[in-house]
Amino acid sequence: MFKLYWRKFIVPYWSLVLIALACFVVSSAAGLSAPLIIKFLIDNALVHGNVQYLHIIIASIIGLYLLRGVFSYLHGQTIAKAGNKMVAKMRESMFERLQKLDYAYFIDIPTGEIISLFTNDLALIQQAISLSVPDLLVESINLMAIMLIMIYFDWQLALVTFATLPFIILAINFFNKKILSLGMVVENTFAKVTGILHQALLSMIVVQSYVREDYECEKFNINMRHASGEFIKVQRFKAMLIALVEFLASIGLTAIIWFGGREVINGNLTIGGMFAFLIYIINIPTPIRRISDAISNMKLGIVAWRRINAMQQQINTVVDGPDELGSITGKVEFKNVNFAYLPEVDTLRDINIVVEPSDIVAIVGPSGAGKSSFANLLLRFYDPVDGVIFVDDIDIRTLKMSALRKQIGFIQQEPILFNLSVLENIRYGRPTATLAEVQEAAKAADAHDFIMELTDGYDYRVSELGNNLSGGQRQRIAIARAIILEPPILVLDEPTAALDAEAEQQVMKAIRKVSKNRTTFLITHRLSTLIGSDRVIYLVNGQIVEIGTHSELMEQDGIYRKAVLSEELRV
Ligand SMILES: Nc1ncnc2c1ncn2[C@@H]1O[C@H](COP(=O)(O)OP(=O)(O)O)[C@@H](O)[C@H]1O
Ligand SMILES: [Mg+2]
Repeated sequence: MFKLYWRKFIVPYWSLVLIALACFVVSSAAGLSAPLIIKFLIDNALVHGNVQYLHIIIASIIGLYLLRGVFSYLHGQTIAKAGNKMVAKMRESMFERLQKLDYAYFIDIPTGEIISLFTNDLALIQQAISLSVPDLLVESINLMAIMLIMIYFDWQLALVTFATLPFIILAINFFNKKILSLGMVVENTFAKVTGILHQALLSMIVVQSYVREDYECEKFNINMRHASGEFIKVQRFKAMLIALVEFLASIGLTAIIWFGGREVINGNLTIGGMFAFLIYIINIPTPIRRISDAISNMKLGIVAWRRINAMQQQINTVVDGPDELGSITGKVEFKNVNFAYLPEVDTLRDINIVVEPSDIVAIVGPSGAGKSSFANLLLRFYDPVDGVIFVDDIDIRTLKMSALRKQIGFIQQEPILFNLSVLENIRYGRPTATLAEVQEAAKAADAHDFIMELTDGYDYRVSELGNNLSGGQRQRIAIARAIILEPPILVLDEPTAALDAEAEQQVMKAIRKVSKNRTTFLITHRLSTLIGSDRVIYLVNGQIVEIGTHSELMEQDGIYRKAVLSEELRV
């Protein structure tokens, strides 16, 4: 699996990574050779009082640092570019994966958590890729180079200096463990905060109408305070770590002055050599600290990566079949279908029904009976546990999901519209539709007249939650959106349940028109619709208890008749 990611996200940018590394090598070599020149300066120019040498040396030091600056800029710039491209690619691939996940995933996983994958977790990965990995690589090379140069100069003095290194590494290890675990707490809290924000935005109308703003703020603040408390702790540990590392390094420094001083006095080391040593040791703590920072950030990145990977690797239970679907008549059959969302909790049992093309089937039953689940199965948002569903005598599991869904117009109780113009909303499923075709669909759905009365007509922009249209208007736009695809099958799940009487009339009129010549499943409680349908299915507890036309069921004197007489089913 890792190989796949390597190929997909890393390999395409290898040239950038190589360029970055090359730039680093130049800048680092320039930086590291400066102390050598200083040694030369002291030993050859200062000791012998040669002013010309002094000038040449000063010029070359400036030149070296300039070189280091330029290449360090190029290095940083290239590596950031590579990192950004990798993360952008990852973001694209995540969104692509998200679109194809089982519908059930979105029911099970809180939206805030999914958003957090795209914000917090990707940011951590971005940091790991563009900063930590390059830092780790680069600073390790740096550190090793410094150590080798020191050993080359005077191995005994070098060993004395390195005596403090184990302590520095121990200290870093100790603090980093704490920093890492706190960092994870911070990340989890941020994910939670994203969730709270998302939920609050979606439910603002409830929050405000129940006057629970304070409660929501408090919930938000508690988590934010928690996060920032932990964050401050992280910063405190980091500050302590820096102070400690610098103290240990200064002990190294003192050791050099002491031992180095003796070496100079004994004539084993030049003054310039000692000076260069001092500069190198001053340079040691920085790479060590950056390496340790890089390691803890990489660990955070790996945790984020695992979370993202869990989403990427999520196995779909509803999978595409191989076949396309030509034009169909719209016959639908459920054969011995059983279904459960959760093991051992039957939601639908023994569903057997054959629906001929163009029939209108009304599905009735108490709330929780399994009516929406029936629709979910036909659209393959879920698969049955046993049994088969056929469309035109083809097992729908053998079909591509896209092929199946294109044949079905699906209309829910609360239509979901996009924050786009009415025009774009109607042709959402068929973006190439012309204005004339959109208008035709709108006319069929009885939406054209009210759309023409909107301020911009078909260009009127629907607000994010569709709140700048009435419920009935939204529903008729949704119907136009469904029928512009000319689907042979329509599934309407309580399309008027949220509407007032007048809007309901208008929407029902539209539905009657568009259901002509289409196999229609209409989940409803409206008696007049039931009377007009070819068949009524009465579902209770996931089972079909009665089935027939309205008049047949009324003659049966069963549960349906009771429901009609008790006015459970409204006229
Ligand atoms: N995603 C789900 N996970 C678990 N149980 C569910 C899920 N969706 C619905 N249910 C349960 O399945 C049963 C049937 O639900 P549903 O088909 O929505 O009923 P209806 O549309 O007839 O009111 C209910 O008991 C409901 O609580
Ligand atoms: Mg329902």
